[in-house]
Amino acid sequence: MAQTLAFVRSRSTGGGTGSPGDHHAVVEAALARLDLDAKTRLLAGQDLWTLPALPEIGLDSLVMSDGPVGVRGAAWSADDPSLCLPSPTALAATWDPALARRAGRVLAQEAHRKGAHVLLAPTVNLHRSPLGGRHFEAYSEDPLLTSRIGTGYVTGVQESGIAATVKHFVANDAETERFTVDNRVSERALRELYLAPFEAIVRDAGPWALMSAYNGVNGTTMTEHRALQTGVLREEWGFDGVVVSDWLAARDTVRAIEGGLDVAMPGPQTVFGPALAAAVRDGRVAESTVDRAVRRVLLLAARVGLLKGAAPVVPVGRRPAPLDGPGVAREIAARSFVLLSNRAGALPLDTSAVPSIALIGRAARDARFLGGGSATVYPARVVSPLDGLTEALPDGSILTYTMGADANDQLEVAAKGFELRAVLRDAHGHRLAEQPLALGRVRWMDGAIPAGVGYDALATVEITGTFTPLDSGTHHFGTSGTGDFRLTVDGTVLYDGADPEGGDPMEVLTGRAIPRGSAELEAGRPVEVSLLHRAPKVAFGPIRGVTFGLTHRDPQRDGDRLIEEAVAAARAADTAVVVVATTERVESEGFDRTNLRLPGRQDELVARVAAANPRTVVVVNAGAPVEMPWREDVAAILLTWFPGQEGGAALADVLLGREEPGGRLPTTWPARLEDAPVTRVSPEEGVLPYDEGLFVGYRAWERHATPPAYPFGHGLGYTTWEYLALTVADGCARVRLRNTGTRPGRETVQLYAEPVGPAGGRPARQLAGLATITAEPGETVDVEIPVADRTFQVWDEEAGAWDVVAGPYLLHAARSAADSVLTASVPLPPSDPGRS
Ligand code: BGC
Repeated sequence: MAQTLAFVRSRSTGGGTGSPGDHHAVVEAALARLDLDAKTRLLAGQDLWTLPALPEIGLDSLVMSDGPVGVRGAAWSADDPSLCLPSPTALAATWDPALARRAGRVLAQEAHRKGAHVLLAPTVNLHRSPLGGRHFEAYSEDPLLTSRIGTGYVTGVQESGIAATVKHFVANDAETERFTVDNRVSERALRELYLAPFEAIVRDAGPWALMSAYNGVNGTTMTEHRALQTGVLREEWGFDGVVVSDWLAARDTVRAIEGGLDVAMPGPQTVFGPALAAAVRDGRVAESTVDRAVRRVLLLAARVGLLKGAAPVVPVGRRPAPLDGPGVAREIAARSFVLLSNRAGALPLDTSAVPSIALIGRAARDARFLGGGSATVYPARVVSPLDGLTEALPDGSILTYTMGADANDQLEVAAKGFELRAVLRDAHGHRLAEQPLALGRVRWMDGAIPAGVGYDALATVEITGTFTPLDSGTHHFGTSGTGDFRLTVDGTVLYDGADPEGGDPMEVLTGRAIPRGSAELEAGRPVEVSLLHRAPKVAFGPIRGVTFGLTHRDPQRDGDRLIEEAVAAARAADTAVVVVATTERVESEGFDRTNLRLPGRQDELVARVAAANPRTVVVVNAGAPVEMPWREDVAAILLTWFPGQEGGAALADVLLGREEPGGRLPTTWPARLEDAPVTRVSPEEGVLPYDEGLFVGYRAWERHATPPAYPFGHGLGYTTWEYLALTVADGCARVRLRNTGTRPGRETVQLYAEPVGPAGGRPARQLAGLATITAEPGETVDVEIPVADRTFQVWDEEAGAWDVVAGPYLLHAARSAADSVLTASVPLPPSDPGRS
């Protein structure tokens, strides 16, 4: 069965019952009733996540929430759980915009449940370098794949009545000095690579919001970038939504409003609000400029149903039918897993005999299911690989678990074995409130302080309760966040002191752990723990709140012993499954990676286990490329990304052959960091040149003498395919292929265009179209794939316009960027400028 996709444009204010005319009239009437102070207030966050309500015009408060794997909601804590989908790179690895659309729908459903109106996602920056700290949060190194997945996602969110926020506009591709870095990008690379996903999504999905990035581009900070935010985005592309700043990215009242920024987040102190009103009063900003921004905010409010008199684009009764969130999370996970290698049919595991599996790895038990930073959500449950396999294996199966190596050399938020609560007190030590905690972490921002306790009344917060160790030995304890702490375990004060504040606000918010002391504890004997924060209130610029935590690390086992135990278990089993992973110290928002090695002794572990058992399957649980020096020595490698809350269940589905691993690499996987085309993510004197121009990802690898470990687009399934025919007519390719295996399968058909003749500075080939199809054994399928117009266009920097480059071109139907199964020639580029 061939699957084709047709997205309904959802950009107009119409669609549901809210016609553009209705919205225009209501918005204008509302605007006319606002004075300057109210208008400028509406352009500034009133707290971390919301805009103020203006009852005088029937406007409710608009709530924004991250994004992109789940919807956190205004409270950011484990006590208010959220569905957690696989990481964005995993979603892109499905190469399936229809699935991305379902992801969008399920997240919109979550947003409605949590009272949010604007989802701060998707992230459509590119995988420029594997070192980028937020690599896991972006889709791909390729703008077309990014556009298609992003379009699906935004469509799904907005057809459910929630606004999507495409971010971070633009060239926010690394984290080092992210607030200030000035990325120097050629006009052509900007247009053909970095702006391209934003452009396609604006055109094809009509997002209602977009987030302006922290960084600068070619000398101007993005929140003030009139040429890009107004010239390109609004005037050229026709974007009619709201531009919201990244959190704390707006720095200058006049330059930001003149530069096209509509909303400065977070509040309450921002460069808009009273500062903007003052700028109008003293003649530095025209009131009509403020009005333009207010109109856009009111239109957004109307679209999501917050402005009285304006029908929302999607009325409650017309929302899509509810989806089973965990079911969608599990389906996306299995569809995203990339089978990188599979020697002698090691996978799926043979369950005809009684399976005997040695499961190995810290992440096999303590699932690493998402990347760190603002994308963090707290799901109600997480299925680890151990949970998933235990549940799925038939009765009588033998499943052993050993840790093998513990790469987490850091303290982690107190969780297993802890029973905790937070006690809030005033300056006289009187108890104001108490709140149970699912984890040893408090993160209350402004309004979210429990039981209505006023921020000013609060003097101390104590995280307290009991800890029952699983293992005897030396337990390490620590804090996260900054401030003045007293930490007591089992009656002994381990730490009493204060430390200075500072650093990246996001880092302080997400809380790096600091070791404070240790205690000798016995397995099974509960002890009292208390972490008293004597000055818990923090402010990062305008953000006020309480954010700190109790952290812990189990006794460290001897590394050699751990490996020996795993090797012995592997030797005794038919199959060894080793789960290797990065840690939150390696992949997170707020900093870039420094190398691509698996942390700790995991490489050694894999090599030793593989030597002991020829049927060693390695599961790579990482959001971005890692080096795999053992990759030729193991039976199979399955890449599972950060697979979301149902990852372990999906892993069992795929290992046992109930589902096929459906993923294809959305980004090239280098064998070694030094082979990667872009390895510099650190600015010098504030400037980061994108010297490689167009040559990122496979566009660059094509020119390298050294091949990557696995090319862009690579991924195996459980069946085999024969590509029978490729024809091209009227800008559309038709591919015929047959499932030649013995089980139903899914194939991702990839089209790459290769210019014949003078390259004109163009890459040797570029992705021109994609589709996923399914077929039964022996079934032949025809699939039609429109060839993206941009395949035949280059940005002419002198003319400041797109230029169609006459053919001929070769079109390859291929299973990766480094492959060609069938080739057809395209004599002249098609001339329909409407397609992406
Ligand atoms: C991130 C954004 C996020 C925002 C709000 C920022 O630090 O860059 O992606 O939406 O925080 O959490």
